[in-house]
Amino acid sequence: MNRRKEACHCRNVTYGMIEDAVRGGADTLQAVMDATGAGRGCGKCRDFLEYLIRDIREEMEKEANHAVQ
Ligand code: FES
Repeated sequence: MNRRKEACHCRNVTYGMIEDAVRGGADTLQAVMDATGAGRGCGKCRDFLEYLIRDIREEMEKEANHAVQ
């Protein structure tokens, strides 16, 4: 993931900021919007934000499974 890439252009929120919010416990679109301000402009990025959140959570699950084995 390119952490510098912008996920929300209206609020200049990067992939990295979304990732940090999800890893910090924001596990829903609403929580990520509250934590980062993303999605509060035109709203067009919201579907993509949901996809990104799912992707990051899957990555975290994989990491957790690795840690157990
Ligand atoms: S691009 Fe995110 S609210 Fe407009």
